[in-house]
Amino acid sequence: MPIIAPSMLSADFLKLGEEIDMINNSEADWFHLDVMDGMFVPNISYGMPIISTIKKRAKKICDVHLMVVQPERYLEEFKKAGADYLTVHYETGYHLHRTLTSIRALGMKAGLAINPHTPVAMVADIIHEIDLLLVMSINPGFGGQKFLPLTYNKIRQAKELITNAGSNTLIEIDGGVTLDNAADIIAAGADVLVAGNTVFAASDPAEMIKRLKHIGK
Ligand code: DX5
Ligand code: ZN
Repeated sequence: MPIIAPSMLSADFLKLGEEIDMINNSEADWFHLDVMDGMFVPNISYGMPIISTIKKRAKKICDVHLMVVQPERYLEEFKKAGADYLTVHYETGYHLHRTLTSIRALGMKAGLAINPHTPVAMVADIIHEIDLLLVMSINPGFGGQKFLPLTYNKIRQAKELITNAGSNTLIEIDGGVTLDNAADIIAAGADVLVAGNTVFAASDPAEMIKRLKHIGK
């Protein structure tokens, strides 16, 4: 069964506590928390104060996705805010080996995200430093976009790379995940599905989470 990570970017922030409780009481596994700086992506979301607030109430793993230039400036602060997984973008790093090693040294799981234009092969030499490979299935910045079909090939390539390396890196897919494509995404080799719009725009979000969780069966 896939790990389901609802993206809080699509939550109703007027009732954040209820949204968190809905996820706590659902079959979701992780909270996916998107941090955008208005530089790496053309949007600004939220930062440490919101994440530490969510962390106080969340009973599940906090999976923090940094869409931020020079993310190495903030590793300790996101640890303090409560990140369990901390993911940085390949495209933002001059010294990714160092950044990923630092994330682990701080006691977090290290994630690396690749944009749709970045070949999977670029991460081959650092695969053992990565606990989570986030393959973006949209251009990051906004929820509710359409899944890019080029992602399927990338998932298969990522799976092959990870298997050949004998690594247990998880593959996470983020962007445009729906009930219509989730089964194919899992069949291609994904372990973690992020879902924002699909979950929070549903009339029954907890039921939607349950359907995504059981879709591969
Ligand atoms: C976008 C974010 C995603 C976003 C996904 O840059 O990384 O996590 O919330 O939203 P949906 O599932 O609606 O495409
Ligand atoms: Zn994300």
